[in-house]
Amino acid sequence: MTDKTGWWRSAAIYQVYIRSFADGNGDGVGDLAGVRARLDHLADLGIDAIWFTPWYPSPMDDGGYDVADFRDIEPLFGTLAEAEELIAEAHARDIRVIIDIVPNHCSDEHRWFQAALDAGPGSPERQRFWFRPGRGPDGSEPPNNWKSRFGGSAWTRVPDGEWYLHLYSSRQPDFNWDNPEIRTEFEDVLRFWFDRGVDGFRIDVADGLVKDPHLPDVDDGDETPFSDQEGLHEIYRSWRKIADSYGGERVLVGEMWLPDMSRAARYLRRDELHSAFNFDFLVCPWDAARFRDVVTRTLRAHDEVGAPAAWVLSNHDVTRHVTRYGREGDTGFSFANRLHELPVDRERGTRRARAAALLTLALPGGLYVYQGEELGLWEVLDIPDELRQDPVFARTRGADPGRDGCRVPIPWSGDEPPFGFGSGGAWLPQPASWRDYTAEAEAADPASMLSLYRDGLRIRRSLPAGSLEWLSLGEEVLAFRIGTGFTFALNFSAAPVPLPAGEVLLASGPVDGELPTDTAVWLRS
Ligand code: GLC
Repeated sequence: MTDKTGWWRSAAIYQVYIRSFADGNGDGVGDLAGVRARLDHLADLGIDAIWFTPWYPSPMDDGGYDVADFRDIEPLFGTLAEAEELIAEAHARDIRVIIDIVPNHCSDEHRWFQAALDAGPGSPERQRFWFRPGRGPDGSEPPNNWKSRFGGSAWTRVPDGEWYLHLYSSRQPDFNWDNPEIRTEFEDVLRFWFDRGVDGFRIDVADGLVKDPHLPDVDDGDETPFSDQEGLHEIYRSWRKIADSYGGERVLVGEMWLPDMSRAARYLRRDELHSAFNFDFLVCPWDAARFRDVVTRTLRAHDEVGAPAAWVLSNHDVTRHVTRYGREGDTGFSFANRLHELPVDRERGTRRARAAALLTLALPGGLYVYQGEELGLWEVLDIPDELRQDPVFARTRGADPGRDGCRVPIPWSGDEPPFGFGSGGAWLPQPASWRDYTAEAEAADPASMLSLYRDGLRIRRSLPAGSLEWLSLGEEVLAFRIGTGFTFALNFSAAPVPLPAGEVLLASGPVDGELPTDTAVWLRS
Protein backbone atom coordinates (compact mmCIF):
# COMPACT_ATOMS: atom_id res chain seq x y z
CA MET A 1 0.00 0.00 0.00
CA THR A 2 1.24 3.50 -0.73
CA ASP A 3 2.39 5.19 2.43
CA LYS A 4 1.06 8.63 1.64
CA THR A 5 1.78 11.02 4.47
CA GLY A 6 -1.34 12.53 5.94
CA TRP A 7 -3.59 10.33 3.77
CA TRP A 8 -6.46 10.88 6.19
CA ARG A 9 -6.37 14.65 5.71
CA SER A 10 -8.06 14.43 2.33
CA ALA A 11 -9.34 10.86 2.24
CA ALA A 12 -12.65 9.84 0.67
CA ILE A 13 -13.96 7.20 3.06
CA TYR A 14 -16.79 4.87 2.11
CA GLN A 15 -19.09 3.64 4.85
CA VAL A 16 -20.10 0.01 4.64
CA TYR A 17 -23.09 -1.00 6.77
CA ILE A 18 -22.26 -4.67 6.47
CA ARG A 19 -25.64 -6.31 6.87
CA SER A 20 -27.06 -4.24 4.01
CA PHE A 21 -24.11 -4.14 1.63
CA ALA A 22 -23.87 -7.55 -0.07
CA ASP A 23 -24.85 -11.05 0.98
CA GLY A 24 -22.34 -13.74 0.10
CA ASN A 25 -24.03 -16.80 1.64
CA GLY A 26 -27.66 -16.30 0.63
CA ASP A 27 -29.18 -15.87 4.10
CA GLY A 28 -30.60 -12.44 3.27
CA VAL A 29 -28.10 -10.59 5.47
CA GLY A 30 -24.96 -8.90 4.17
CA ASP A 31 -21.62 -10.36 5.24
CA LEU A 32 -17.86 -10.23 4.76
CA ALA A 33 -17.95 -12.65 1.83
CA GLY A 34 -20.34 -10.20 0.15
CA VAL A 35 -18.01 -7.28 0.79
CA ARG A 36 -15.04 -9.22 -0.57
CA ALA A 37 -16.95 -9.99 -3.75
CA ARG A 38 -17.76 -6.30 -4.21
CA LEU A 39 -14.39 -4.73 -3.43
CA ASP A 40 -13.91 -3.93 -7.09
CA HIS A 41 -16.97 -1.68 -7.03
CA LEU A 42 -15.22 0.35 -4.33
CA ALA A 43 -11.88 0.33 -6.13
CA ASP A 44 -13.59 1.51 -9.34
CA LEU A 45 -15.42 4.19 -7.41
CA GLY A 46 -12.07 5.61 -6.38
CA ILE A 47 -12.31 5.79 -2.60
CA ASP A 48 -9.30 5.76 -0.26
CA ALA A 49 -10.69 3.84 2.69
CA ILE A 50 -13.66 1.85 3.95
CA TRP A 51 -15.27 2.34 7.33
CA PHE A 52 -17.06 -0.79 8.49
CA THR A 53 -19.87 -0.39 11.00
CA PRO A 54 -19.53 -2.89 13.88
CA TRP A 55 -18.69 -6.40 12.77
CA TYR A 56 -18.44 -7.95 16.22
CA PRO A 57 -20.57 -10.76 17.66
CA SER A 58 -23.86 -9.15 18.61
CA PRO A 59 -27.48 -10.05 19.30
CA MET A 60 -28.22 -7.24 16.78
CA ASP A 61 -30.60 -5.34 19.01
CA ASP A 62 -29.08 -2.15 17.58
CA GLY A 63 -27.65 -3.39 14.29
CA GLY A 64 -24.38 -4.49 15.90
CA TYR A 65 -23.86 -1.41 18.08
CA ASP A 66 -24.62 -3.80 20.91
CA VAL A 67 -21.31 -5.66 21.04
CA ALA A 68 -21.04 -8.99 22.86
CA ASP A 69 -17.32 -9.55 22.18
CA PHE A 70 -14.92 -6.87 20.98
CA ARG A 71 -12.32 -9.35 19.72
CA ASP A 72 -14.22 -11.48 17.24
CA ILE A 73 -16.50 -11.33 14.19
CA GLU A 74 -20.29 -11.77 14.21
CA PRO A 75 -20.97 -15.31 12.89
CA LEU A 76 -23.70 -13.97 10.56
CA PHE A 77 -20.94 -11.87 8.93
CA GLY A 78 -18.12 -14.41 8.85
CA THR A 79 -14.97 -15.25 10.79
CA LEU A 80 -11.92 -13.49 12.12
CA ALA A 81 -9.82 -15.20 9.45
CA GLU A 82 -12.11 -13.79 6.76
CA ALA A 83 -11.83 -10.32 8.26
CA GLU A 84 -8.06 -10.58 8.07
CA GLU A 85 -8.27 -11.67 4.45
CA LEU A 86 -10.64 -8.82 3.69
CA ILE A 87 -8.21 -6.32 5.22
CA ALA A 88 -5.40 -7.73 3.09
CA GLU A 89 -7.54 -7.67 -0.07
CA ALA A 90 -8.52 -4.06 0.53
CA HIS A 91 -4.89 -3.12 1.12
CA ALA A 92 -3.91 -4.83 -2.11
CA ARG A 93 -6.27 -2.38 -3.86
CA ASP A 94 -4.78 0.59 -2.03
CA ILE A 95 -7.89 0.89 0.14
CA ARG A 96 -7.45 1.41 3.86
CA VAL A 97 -9.74 -0.13 6.47
CA ILE A 98 -11.31 1.68 9.41
CA ILE A 99 -13.52 -0.21 11.85
CA ASP A 100 -16.07 0.94 14.36
CA ILE A 101 -15.28 0.74 18.05
CA VAL A 102 -18.12 1.06 20.53
CA PRO A 103 -16.61 2.08 23.87
CA ASN A 104 -19.63 3.71 25.51
CA HIS A 105 -21.56 0.50 26.05
CA CYS A 106 -21.75 -3.18 25.23
CA SER A 107 -24.47 -5.73 24.70
CA ASP A 108 -26.35 -7.14 27.67
CA GLU A 109 -24.96 -10.46 26.42
CA HIS A 110 -21.34 -9.33 26.92
CA ARG A 111 -19.68 -11.60 29.51
CA TRP A 112 -18.93 -8.61 31.77
CA PHE A 113 -22.57 -7.56 31.95
CA GLN A 114 -23.66 -11.13 32.56
CA ALA A 115 -21.06 -11.36 35.35
CA ALA A 116 -22.35 -8.09 36.80
CA LEU A 117 -25.90 -9.43 36.90
CA ASP A 118 -24.75 -12.63 38.61
CA ALA A 119 -22.43 -10.95 41.11
CA GLY A 120 -25.06 -8.68 42.63
CA PRO A 121 -25.06 -5.23 44.28
CA GLY A 122 -21.78 -3.81 45.59
CA SER A 123 -19.61 -6.26 43.63
CA PRO A 124 -16.55 -5.25 41.58
CA GLU A 125 -18.35 -6.72 38.55
CA ARG A 126 -21.07 -4.07 38.90
CA GLN A 127 -18.40 -1.34 39.08
CA ARG A 128 -17.76 -1.82 35.37
CA PHE A 129 -21.22 -0.37 34.67
CA TRP A 130 -23.48 2.21 36.28
CA PHE A 131 -25.60 0.25 38.74
CA ARG A 132 -27.51 2.29 41.32
CA PRO A 133 -30.39 1.81 43.76
CA GLY A 134 -33.64 3.40 42.68
CA ARG A 135 -35.38 6.39 44.21
CA GLY A 136 -38.56 6.43 46.21
CA PRO A 137 -39.36 4.44 49.37
CA ASP A 138 -39.18 1.09 47.59
CA GLY A 139 -36.56 2.11 45.03
CA SER A 140 -39.06 1.74 42.23
CA GLU A 141 -38.19 5.09 40.63
CA PRO A 142 -35.12 5.34 38.34
CA PRO A 143 -31.98 6.86 39.98
CA ASN A 144 -32.32 10.05 37.91
CA ASN A 145 -34.36 11.56 35.08
CA TRP A 146 -31.99 10.87 32.18
CA LYS A 147 -33.68 9.81 28.96
CA SER A 148 -32.44 7.15 26.57
CA ARG A 149 -31.51 8.63 23.18
CA PHE A 150 -33.75 5.94 21.72
CA GLY A 151 -36.75 7.04 23.82
CA GLY A 152 -37.95 6.18 27.33
CA SER A 153 -35.90 6.19 30.53
CA ALA A 154 -32.12 5.64 30.46
CA TRP A 155 -32.45 3.18 33.36
CA THR A 156 -33.67 -0.40 33.59
CA ARG A 157 -34.25 -2.31 36.81
CA VAL A 158 -32.82 -5.78 37.40
CA PRO A 159 -34.53 -8.46 39.55
CA ASP A 160 -32.47 -7.71 42.70
CA GLY A 161 -33.84 -4.14 42.67
CA GLU A 162 -30.83 -2.18 41.33
CA TRP A 163 -31.00 -0.13 38.15
CA TYR A 164 -28.41 0.17 35.38
CA LEU A 165 -27.78 3.07 33.03
CA HIS A 166 -28.15 2.82 29.25
CA LEU A 167 -28.06 5.94 27.10
CA TYR A 168 -29.35 3.80 24.21
CA SER A 169 -31.48 0.63 24.33
CA SER A 170 -31.90 -1.37 27.53
CA ARG A 171 -29.79 -4.03 25.85
CA GLN A 172 -26.82 -1.60 25.70
CA PRO A 173 -25.55 -1.02 29.26
CA ASP A 174 -23.14 1.94 29.59
CA PHE A 175 -19.59 1.22 30.77
CA ASN A 176 -18.22 3.08 33.76
CA TRP A 177 -15.10 4.78 32.39
CA ASP A 178 -14.04 5.85 35.89
CA ASN A 179 -13.06 2.22 36.35
CA PRO A 180 -9.44 1.71 35.17
CA GLU A 181 -10.28 -1.79 34.04
CA ILE A 182 -12.45 -0.37 31.24
CA ARG A 183 -9.61 1.84 30.06
CA THR A 184 -7.12 -1.03 29.98
CA GLU A 185 -9.61 -3.25 28.22
CA PHE A 186 -10.23 -0.82 25.37
CA GLU A 187 -6.55 -0.03 24.94
CA ASP A 188 -6.04 -3.72 24.50
CA VAL A 189 -8.93 -3.95 22.01
CA LEU A 190 -7.34 -1.17 19.95
CA ARG A 191 -4.07 -3.10 19.85
CA PHE A 192 -5.87 -6.34 18.98
CA TRP A 193 -7.21 -4.81 15.75
CA PHE A 194 -4.19 -2.65 14.93
CA ASP A 195 -2.17 -5.88 15.12
CA ARG A 196 -4.55 -7.32 12.52
CA GLY A 197 -3.84 -4.48 10.13
CA VAL A 198 -6.74 -2.06 10.53
CA ASP A 199 -5.83 1.50 9.67
CA GLY A 200 -8.05 3.19 12.19
CA PHE A 201 -11.18 3.39 14.27
CA ARG A 202 -14.41 5.30 14.04
CA ILE A 203 -15.30 5.91 17.67
CA ASP A 204 -18.99 5.47 18.40
CA VAL A 205 -20.56 8.06 20.74
CA ALA A 206 -17.09 9.51 21.24
CA ASP A 207 -18.48 12.37 23.34
CA GLY A 208 -20.33 10.16 25.80
CA LEU A 209 -17.94 7.81 27.61
CA VAL A 210 -17.32 9.91 30.72
CA LYS A 211 -20.23 10.69 33.04
CA ASP A 212 -20.55 13.10 35.91
CA PRO A 213 -20.32 10.51 38.73
CA HIS A 214 -22.99 12.32 40.73
CA LEU A 215 -25.48 11.47 37.98
CA PRO A 216 -27.48 14.68 38.56
CA ASP A 217 -30.97 15.20 37.17
CA VAL A 218 -31.05 17.31 34.01
CA ASP A 219 -33.42 19.79 32.44
CA ASP A 220 -35.01 18.62 29.24
CA GLY A 221 -32.45 18.49 26.43
CA ASP A 222 -29.45 19.12 28.69
CA GLU A 223 -26.74 16.50 28.11
CA THR A 224 -23.99 18.13 30.19
CA PRO A 225 -23.46 15.26 32.68
CA PHE A 226 -23.05 12.65 29.94
CA SER A 227 -21.64 14.45 26.94
CA ASP A 228 -18.40 16.35 26.28
CA GLN A 229 -17.03 15.84 29.80
CA GLU A 230 -13.47 17.14 30.23
CA GLY A 231 -12.17 13.71 31.27
CA LEU A 232 -12.57 12.39 27.73
CA HIS A 233 -9.50 14.19 26.46
CA GLU A 234 -7.04 12.14 28.48
CA ILE A 235 -8.66 8.94 27.18
CA TYR A 236 -8.13 10.02 23.59
CA ARG A 237 -4.59 11.17 24.31
CA SER A 238 -3.76 7.68 25.47
CA TRP A 239 -5.49 6.18 22.40
CA ARG A 240 -3.51 8.51 20.16
CA LYS A 241 -0.26 7.28 21.68
CA ILE A 242 -1.28 3.73 20.84
CA ALA A 243 -2.25 4.65 17.27
CA ASP A 244 1.01 6.53 16.78
CA SER A 245 3.04 3.59 18.08
CA TYR A 246 2.03 1.69 14.91
CA GLY A 247 3.43 2.50 11.47
CA GLY A 248 1.41 3.61 8.48
CA GLU A 249 -0.56 6.46 10.05
CA ARG A 250 -3.39 4.77 11.93
CA VAL A 251 -6.26 7.12 12.59
CA LEU A 252 -8.98 7.87 15.14
CA VAL A 253 -12.25 9.41 13.98
CA GLY A 254 -14.83 10.66 16.46
CA GLU A 255 -18.59 10.47 16.20
CA MET A 256 -19.74 13.49 18.18
CA TRP A 257 -23.06 15.27 17.82
CA LEU A 258 -22.07 18.39 19.76
CA PRO A 259 -24.02 21.64 19.53
CA ASP A 260 -20.86 23.78 19.48
CA MET A 261 -18.28 23.13 16.76
CA SER A 262 -15.46 24.79 18.66
CA ARG A 263 -16.04 22.28 21.49
CA ALA A 264 -15.85 19.42 18.98
CA ALA A 265 -12.62 20.83 17.54
CA ARG A 266 -10.94 20.52 20.96
CA TYR A 267 -10.94 16.75 20.42
CA LEU A 268 -8.88 17.29 17.26
CA ARG A 269 -5.87 18.84 18.91
CA ARG A 270 -2.64 17.30 17.70
CA ASP A 271 -2.34 14.68 20.42
CA GLU A 272 -6.01 13.57 20.36
CA LEU A 273 -8.27 12.38 17.51
CA HIS A 274 -7.38 12.84 13.84
CA SER A 275 -10.81 13.90 12.69
CA ALA A 276 -14.53 13.98 13.46
CA PHE A 277 -17.66 13.93 11.35
CA ASN A 278 -19.01 17.34 10.49
CA PHE A 279 -22.67 16.91 11.41
CA ASP A 280 -23.42 20.65 11.20
CA PHE A 281 -22.85 20.27 7.48
CA LEU A 282 -25.05 17.17 7.32
CA VAL A 283 -27.99 18.89 9.02
CA CYS A 284 -27.69 22.16 7.09
CA PRO A 285 -30.92 23.08 5.27
CA TRP A 286 -30.75 23.80 1.52
CA ASP A 287 -29.80 27.45 1.64
CA ALA A 288 -26.73 29.25 0.28
CA ALA A 289 -26.19 31.51 3.29
CA ARG A 290 -26.51 28.61 5.74
CA PHE A 291 -24.00 26.52 3.78
CA ARG A 292 -21.60 29.46 3.52
CA ASP A 293 -21.84 29.90 7.26
CA VAL A 294 -21.30 26.27 8.15
CA VAL A 295 -18.35 25.90 5.77
CA THR A 296 -16.74 29.07 7.14
CA ARG A 297 -17.21 28.02 10.75
CA THR A 298 -15.95 24.52 10.03
CA LEU A 299 -12.78 25.62 8.31
CA ARG A 300 -12.05 28.19 11.01
CA ALA A 301 -12.57 25.78 13.91
CA HIS A 302 -10.45 23.09 12.25
CA ASP A 303 -7.68 25.47 11.21
CA GLU A 304 -7.31 26.56 14.81
CA VAL A 305 -6.29 23.06 15.83
CA GLY A 306 -4.56 22.06 12.58
CA ALA A 307 -7.09 19.34 11.78
CA PRO A 308 -8.79 18.60 8.45
CA ALA A 309 -12.55 18.95 8.09
CA ALA A 310 -14.53 15.77 7.32
CA TRP A 311 -17.65 16.45 5.22
CA VAL A 312 -20.59 14.10 5.43
CA LEU A 313 -24.07 14.11 3.90
CA SER A 314 -25.51 10.78 5.05
CA ASN A 315 -24.91 7.78 7.27
CA HIS A 316 -26.78 4.81 8.72
CA ASP A 317 -28.51 6.99 11.35
CA VAL A 318 -30.06 9.75 9.26
CA THR A 319 -32.70 10.12 6.56
CA ARG A 320 -30.97 9.72 3.19
CA HIS A 321 -30.19 13.12 1.72
CA VAL A 322 -32.02 12.63 -1.60
CA THR A 323 -35.13 12.50 0.56
CA ARG A 324 -34.12 15.32 2.92
CA TYR A 325 -33.32 17.67 0.06
CA GLY A 326 -36.53 16.67 -1.70
CA ARG A 327 -38.64 18.25 1.02
CA GLU A 328 -40.05 21.74 0.90
CA GLY A 329 -38.75 24.52 3.11
CA ASP A 330 -36.18 24.70 5.88
CA THR A 331 -35.84 20.98 6.54
CA GLY A 332 -32.50 20.63 8.23
CA PHE A 333 -32.19 17.21 9.78
CA SER A 334 -32.61 16.45 13.44
CA PHE A 335 -32.81 13.09 15.16
CA ALA A 336 -35.87 14.06 17.11
CA ASN A 337 -37.79 15.00 14.03
CA ARG A 338 -37.60 12.55 11.17
CA LEU A 339 -40.36 14.24 9.14
CA HIS A 340 -41.50 11.02 7.52
CA GLU A 341 -44.91 12.43 6.68
CA LEU A 342 -43.66 15.42 4.66
CA PRO A 343 -44.02 15.00 0.90
CA VAL A 344 -40.85 14.42 -1.09
CA ASP A 345 -40.06 15.73 -4.55
CA ARG A 346 -37.50 13.09 -5.40
CA GLU A 347 -36.44 14.68 -8.65
CA ARG A 348 -35.54 17.88 -6.89
CA GLY A 349 -33.92 15.92 -4.04
CA THR A 350 -31.75 14.08 -6.55
CA ARG A 351 -30.77 17.26 -8.36
CA ARG A 352 -29.72 18.78 -5.05
CA ALA A 353 -27.96 15.60 -3.94
CA ARG A 354 -25.89 15.71 -7.12
CA ALA A 355 -24.94 19.32 -6.47
CA ALA A 356 -24.17 18.56 -2.81
CA ALA A 357 -21.93 15.67 -3.87
CA LEU A 358 -19.82 18.03 -5.96
CA LEU A 359 -19.71 20.45 -3.04
CA THR A 360 -18.41 17.85 -0.55
CA LEU A 361 -15.93 16.55 -3.10
CA ALA A 362 -14.58 20.06 -3.71
CA LEU A 363 -14.24 21.32 -0.14
CA PRO A 364 -10.82 21.19 1.55
CA GLY A 365 -10.47 18.14 3.81
CA GLY A 366 -11.81 14.61 3.75
CA LEU A 367 -15.27 13.23 3.13
CA TYR A 368 -17.53 10.27 3.76
CA VAL A 369 -19.76 8.46 1.30
CA TYR A 370 -22.49 6.29 2.81
CA GLN A 371 -23.18 3.11 0.85
CA GLY A 372 -25.90 3.67 -1.73
CA GLU A 373 -25.44 7.43 -1.77
CA GLU A 374 -23.29 6.93 -4.88
CA LEU A 375 -26.34 5.29 -6.49
CA GLY A 376 -28.65 8.13 -5.50
CA LEU A 377 -30.75 5.90 -3.24
CA TRP A 378 -33.47 7.51 -1.19
CA GLU A 379 -35.01 6.79 2.21
CA VAL A 380 -37.49 3.91 2.03
CA LEU A 381 -40.48 5.34 3.86
CA ASP A 382 -43.00 2.52 3.51
CA ILE A 383 -41.34 -0.35 5.34
CA PRO A 384 -44.16 -2.32 7.01
CA ASP A 385 -44.12 -1.81 10.78
CA GLU A 386 -43.72 -5.51 11.49
CA LEU A 387 -40.45 -5.56 9.55
CA ARG A 388 -38.91 -2.56 11.28
CA GLN A 389 -35.91 -3.56 13.39
CA ASP A 390 -34.48 -0.33 14.74
CA PRO A 391 -35.08 -0.17 18.53
CA VAL A 392 -35.96 3.52 18.06
CA PHE A 393 -39.27 2.45 16.49
CA ALA A 394 -40.26 0.21 19.41
CA ARG A 395 -38.93 2.47 22.19
CA THR A 396 -40.89 5.46 20.87
CA ARG A 397 -43.94 3.22 20.29
CA GLY A 398 -43.81 4.06 16.61
CA ALA A 399 -43.76 7.84 17.09
CA ASP A 400 -40.34 7.79 15.40
CA PRO A 401 -40.18 5.35 12.45
CA GLY A 402 -36.50 4.82 13.19
CA ARG A 403 -33.53 4.34 10.91
CA ASP A 404 -34.40 1.25 8.88
CA GLY A 405 -35.33 3.35 5.85
CA CYS A 406 -31.69 4.28 5.18
CA ARG A 407 -30.48 0.71 5.81
CA VAL A 408 -32.29 -1.12 3.03
CA PRO A 409 -29.99 -3.59 1.20
CA ILE A 410 -28.07 -2.24 -1.80
CA PRO A 411 -29.30 -3.03 -5.33
CA TRP A 412 -26.42 -4.39 -7.41
CA SER A 413 -27.91 -5.80 -10.59
CA GLY A 414 -30.95 -7.25 -12.33
CA ASP A 415 -34.59 -6.28 -12.64
CA GLU A 416 -36.18 -7.48 -9.46
CA PRO A 417 -35.51 -7.71 -5.72
CA PRO A 418 -33.11 -8.57 -4.21
CA PHE A 419 -31.29 -6.99 -7.17
CA GLY A 420 -28.12 -9.07 -6.82
CA PHE A 421 -27.81 -8.30 -3.10
CA GLY A 422 -27.65 -12.06 -2.58
CA SER A 423 -29.35 -15.25 -3.60
CA GLY A 424 -31.71 -15.44 -0.62
CA GLY A 425 -33.75 -12.26 -0.50
CA ALA A 426 -33.03 -9.18 1.55
CA TRP A 427 -33.71 -8.56 5.25
CA LEU A 428 -35.59 -5.35 4.44
CA PRO A 429 -37.72 -4.97 1.30
CA GLN A 430 -36.25 -2.98 -1.58
CA PRO A 431 -38.48 -0.76 -3.76
CA ALA A 432 -39.21 -2.25 -7.20
CA SER A 433 -38.11 1.06 -8.76
CA TRP A 434 -34.55 0.37 -7.65
CA ARG A 435 -34.22 -1.66 -10.85
CA ASP A 436 -33.06 1.59 -12.46
CA TYR A 437 -30.67 2.34 -9.61
CA THR A 438 -28.55 -0.80 -9.48
CA ALA A 439 -24.78 -0.44 -9.61
CA GLU A 440 -24.88 -2.37 -12.89
CA ALA A 441 -27.46 -0.10 -14.52
CA GLU A 442 -25.75 3.06 -13.34
CA ALA A 443 -22.27 1.96 -14.39
CA ALA A 444 -23.55 1.87 -17.97
CA ASP A 445 -25.06 5.37 -17.81
CA PRO A 446 -22.76 8.40 -18.01
CA ALA A 447 -25.52 10.59 -16.57
CA SER A 448 -26.05 8.45 -13.45
CA MET A 449 -25.20 9.36 -9.88
CA LEU A 450 -22.59 6.59 -9.91
CA SER A 451 -20.84 8.14 -12.91
CA LEU A 452 -20.91 11.53 -11.19
CA TYR A 453 -19.26 10.12 -8.05
CA ARG A 454 -16.67 8.21 -10.07
CA ASP A 455 -15.79 11.26 -12.15
CA GLY A 456 -15.79 13.50 -9.10
CA LEU A 457 -13.57 11.22 -7.05
CA ARG A 458 -11.16 10.85 -9.96
CA ILE A 459 -10.91 14.51 -10.92
CA ARG A 460 -10.72 15.52 -7.25
CA ARG A 461 -7.30 13.87 -7.01
CA SER A 462 -5.82 16.39 -9.40
CA LEU A 463 -7.52 19.51 -8.04
CA PRO A 464 -5.17 22.13 -6.61
CA ALA A 465 -4.72 22.19 -2.86
CA GLY A 466 -4.93 25.44 -0.98
CA SER A 467 -7.21 27.55 1.07
CA LEU A 468 -10.75 28.43 0.19
CA GLU A 469 -11.60 31.96 -0.92
CA TRP A 470 -15.26 32.94 -1.27
CA LEU A 471 -16.40 34.52 -4.51
CA SER A 472 -19.38 36.84 -4.62
CA LEU A 473 -21.67 35.76 -7.40
CA GLY A 474 -24.82 36.84 -5.59
CA GLU A 475 -26.50 35.96 -2.29
CA GLU A 476 -27.93 32.71 -3.53
CA VAL A 477 -24.86 31.35 -5.27
CA LEU A 478 -22.31 29.50 -3.21
CA ALA A 479 -19.01 30.04 -4.97
CA PHE A 480 -15.37 29.75 -4.04
CA ARG A 481 -11.93 29.40 -5.46
CA ILE A 482 -9.30 27.01 -4.17
CA GLY A 483 -5.66 27.78 -4.78
CA THR A 484 -5.18 29.12 -8.25
CA GLY A 485 -7.00 27.46 -11.05
CA PHE A 486 -10.12 25.93 -9.48
CA THR A 487 -13.57 27.48 -9.13
CA PHE A 488 -16.68 25.94 -7.59
CA ALA A 489 -20.20 27.36 -7.93
CA LEU A 490 -23.62 26.09 -6.81
CA ASN A 491 -26.77 27.98 -7.70
CA PHE A 492 -29.38 27.83 -4.92
CA SER A 493 -31.63 30.45 -6.51
CA ALA A 494 -34.82 29.72 -8.44
CA ALA A 495 -33.45 31.15 -11.69
CA PRO A 496 -30.35 30.36 -13.74
CA VAL A 497 -27.26 32.55 -13.23
CA PRO A 498 -24.40 33.19 -15.66
CA LEU A 499 -21.75 30.47 -15.63
CA PRO A 500 -18.49 31.72 -14.09
CA ALA A 501 -15.53 31.90 -16.45
CA GLY A 502 -13.38 28.85 -17.03
CA GLU A 503 -13.32 25.42 -18.57
CA VAL A 504 -16.00 23.09 -17.18
CA LEU A 505 -14.36 20.10 -15.51
CA LEU A 506 -17.53 18.56 -14.16
CA ALA A 507 -21.12 19.61 -13.55
CA SER A 508 -23.95 18.06 -11.56
CA GLY A 509 -26.43 18.71 -14.40
CA PRO A 510 -26.56 20.28 -17.85
CA VAL A 511 -24.82 23.66 -18.03
CA ASP A 512 -24.87 25.66 -21.20
CA GLY A 513 -23.56 29.15 -20.73
CA GLU A 514 -25.57 29.41 -17.54
CA LEU A 515 -25.79 27.62 -14.23
CA PRO A 516 -29.35 26.33 -13.63
CA THR A 517 -31.13 26.08 -10.27
CA ASP A 518 -29.72 23.51 -7.83
CA THR A 519 -26.76 22.81 -10.08
CA ALA A 520 -23.06 22.80 -9.18
CA VAL A 521 -20.07 23.15 -11.45
CA TRP A 522 -16.32 22.67 -11.21
CA LEU A 523 -14.25 24.93 -13.42
CA ARG A 524 -10.60 25.23 -14.30
CA SER A 525 -10.16 28.97 -14.16
C1 GLC B 1 -24.09 5.86 17.20
C2 GLC B 1 -24.34 4.97 16.01
C3 GLC B 1 -25.76 4.50 16.06
C4 GLC B 1 -25.97 3.71 17.33
C5 GLC B 1 -25.57 4.52 18.56
C6 GLC B 1 -25.44 3.66 19.77
O1 GLC B 1 -24.82 7.03 17.16
O2 GLC B 1 -24.01 5.63 14.83
O3 GLC B 1 -26.11 3.73 14.94
O4 GLC B 1 -27.30 3.33 17.44
O5 GLC B 1 -24.33 5.14 18.39
O6 GLC B 1 -24.34 2.81 19.67
